[in-house]
Amino acid sequence: MPAKKPGAKRRPFRPRKFVRRAYDLLSTPLALFFLTYSRQVHDGYGMTWPKRMRLGYRFYRNFSKVQTGTNWRAHLVMAMKLLEIPPEVKGAVVECGCWRGGATVNLSLICEITGRELKVYDSFEGLPPPSPGDPIAARTFKNGFMPGMYGGALEEVTGNVRRYGAIDVCSFHKGWFKDTLPHHDGAIVLAFWDVDFYSSLHDCLLNLWPSIVDRGFVFLDEYRDVPYCSVFYSEKYWDKYFSCAPPGLIGIGTGVQVGMYYTDPSAGMGIPRIQGAESIAYCRKGDRSIWEYYPDEFENNPADPPMSAAT
Ligand SMILES: C[S@@+](CC[C@H](N)C(=O)[O-])C[C@H]1O[C@@H](n2cnc3c(N)ncnc32)[C@H](O)[C@@H]1O
Repeated sequence: MPAKKPGAKRRPFRPRKFVRRAYDLLSTPLALFFLTYSRQVHDGYGMTWPKRMRLGYRFYRNFSKVQTGTNWRAHLVMAMKLLEIPPEVKGAVVECGCWRGGATVNLSLICEITGRELKVYDSFEGLPPPSPGDPIAARTFKNGFMPGMYGGALEEVTGNVRRYGAIDVCSFHKGWFKDTLPHHDGAIVLAFWDVDFYSSLHDCLLNLWPSIVDRGFVFLDEYRDVPYCSVFYSEKYWDKYFSCAPPGLIGIGTGVQVGMYYTDPSAGMGIPRIQGAESIAYCRKGDRSIWEYYPDEFENNPADPPMSAAT
């Protein structure tokens, strides 16, 4: 044991931090099992149980190596969904918003296993200045944040991926989304957008949604922010830009279940807490999320029989 330096202060005991860490340690083996349990994983990838466990453990380890705004459990959810997509369906994985590359390292590992390219888009200079009318950007900067927040330099990200991930499957695209994303080329089987602002999400949707393959996945980090996620339910938006019904979003509000211990959407906003709110939300291209039951209209349209009468 290293000798204590004379005069060195003892670290204060932080009960909340202790409980969080204890929960994380105790629940990790179970989380690994439940998150990697899936009968929908395609046989073509040869992902046996030991391989799944090893992958999950690497994700867990990388979480402590590279600073990230998202949890390794959320990365594992994405990896398992990618393994459901048959190898014969061509397409890349696209990450928009990588900061220091904490999710990039793990996504690159699953891309290496599945033989897919990982395209990473970011300014590598942090968040952009607020766009007019973007309420999230306005709120963020009102709270004291500056453009440039979450800035990870390209060299730092590539260095992290080289050390902890699979650099050979990656390509990096530096610049503001509005400038880089219109040049995106090729099909996408899975996208991960962790981009904070409305305007950035709109850039991603507008430029990348047409490239998402049928039944492809789009993952989002801002699952807690219901107004932000509501675009995935906006008939007006989807009709205007894509002439289709909105796809909806699984996990809106609380995220998908990754074995965390989270109940309160306001937790983390200045309120002391022990709950860790770290999950993810997603949609699949081809899903339809519109409310189409109008009882009054039905009464005037007896041609549509009620379900019970139709069966
Ligand atoms: C919260 S961080 C991403 C965290 C990362 N996904 C992780 O798991 O650690 C948001 C990222 O989005 C990028 N970003 C947001 N809006 C952007 C835009 N319009 N153009 C380029 N990059 C943008 C920022 O540079 C930043 O790296």
